[in-house]
Amino acid sequence: MGQDHSTMESDGRTHDDLVNREPEVSFDNEDTMFVPNRYRGVYRVSSAGQLRQRPNAHYPRRERMSVSPLQVESLPLQADGTCDERAVPAAYQCRSASPATEDAHTWIRERRDVLQQQLEATGVILFRGFGLQTPEDFDRFVSAFGEKNFPYEESLSNAVRVVRTERVFSANEAPPEVTIFLHHEMAQTPISPRKLFFFCEIAASEGGATPVCRSDLLLERLAEEVPQFVADCESKGLKYTNVMPGQDDASSGMGRSWRSTLRASDHAEAEDKLSRLSYSWEWLDDDCLRATTPVLPAVREISPGRRSFFNQLIAASKGWKDSRNDPSKAIIHGDGQPLDQQAVFRATELAQKFTYNVAWQPGDVAMVDNCISMHARQPFRGTRKVWASLAGAERNAIAD
Ligand SMILES: [Fe+2]
Repeated sequence: MGQDHSTMESDGRTHDDLVNREPEVSFDNEDTMFVPNRYRGVYRVSSAGQLRQRPNAHYPRRERMSVSPLQVESLPLQADGTCDERAVPAAYQCRSASPATEDAHTWIRERRDVLQQQLEATGVILFRGFGLQTPEDFDRFVSAFGEKNFPYEESLSNAVRVVRTERVFSANEAPPEVTIFLHHEMAQTPISPRKLFFFCEIAASEGGATPVCRSDLLLERLAEEVPQFVADCESKGLKYTNVMPGQDDASSGMGRSWRSTLRASDHAEAEDKLSRLSYSWEWLDDDCLRATTPVLPAVREISPGRRSFFNQLIAASKGWKDSRNDPSKAIIHGDGQPLDQQAVFRATELAQKFTYNVAWQPGDVAMVDNCISMHARQPFRGTRKVWASLAGAERNAIAD
């Protein structure tokens, strides 16, 4: 006979509910952890704020749950320059020596809900000292969050990247001197990831920080300063045009070929994909393709009453320039009207106030809510290896 799985807890949950669920803990701030009543006989909170299993308290064998032994504390990051304090990411520092991958996994799984709440509040969480050394470690770290993978091959990203594992690819292969300006990942395409993860394997000897910008706070300020522009963005949306080469051009931050972007081997396959995505297009000389998106949102609702400046206006106006592309022709409103360039310029200025520069240390991971925070890349010297992983594909649609 197998074990009796029908045992009920006093709160009505079954044995299987307990076995299959992680302990739910919460913080009143980043230092104080609460353990729900039903776990208090089994777990305690250490003086360092860690969840500990009490020595002589166990669930019956099948109900015993692992608890990460990692010593982790919140890491107070300081606002740099003129950065608004609300734009500073949350951060955790693991103090354990040589933390094991499995322990990091368990630590994340124990706190998924708390980390999710924190991500929704801050837009970015930095994890430092969790023992990651390779992209494969990063793949396992990301998988602990239980998010659905969004592979690069399936994305319409216009950046050239190198795929390393099923979940992991290089952040951008653009040369070190190229600045990649603030953007929401793939906001210029009909499908974008909800979350991004970055992992620093090798930090640049100089520069190479990843700026992150609270797009919701930026939109609040824009709505005060340029309300008509925000209203136009919201009601009309945007259409993006870019010219893709026939073969990858790694010298450009937007040099991904149409063959790779559309996963097409010839014009007919490319046109079929574009048609299904409601793009319009034109074939140019030198095997290039000019493609224009359907109308996409420029403002996105994060939660009721909270919205973000979800678009590529800053990156496009400052950086979408290469031998094939002219930033002034890259974006128009959904009704075909040109943008208020002064308002766009003001957005690029104001964004600095809500931008925090993540200065990488080897082993760091940053988790980014792509709806709340934009990201960028500063130029650098030396070798810099930052890997990326995407999760949670979402369709960008504009309300009729
Ligand atoms: Fe990006």
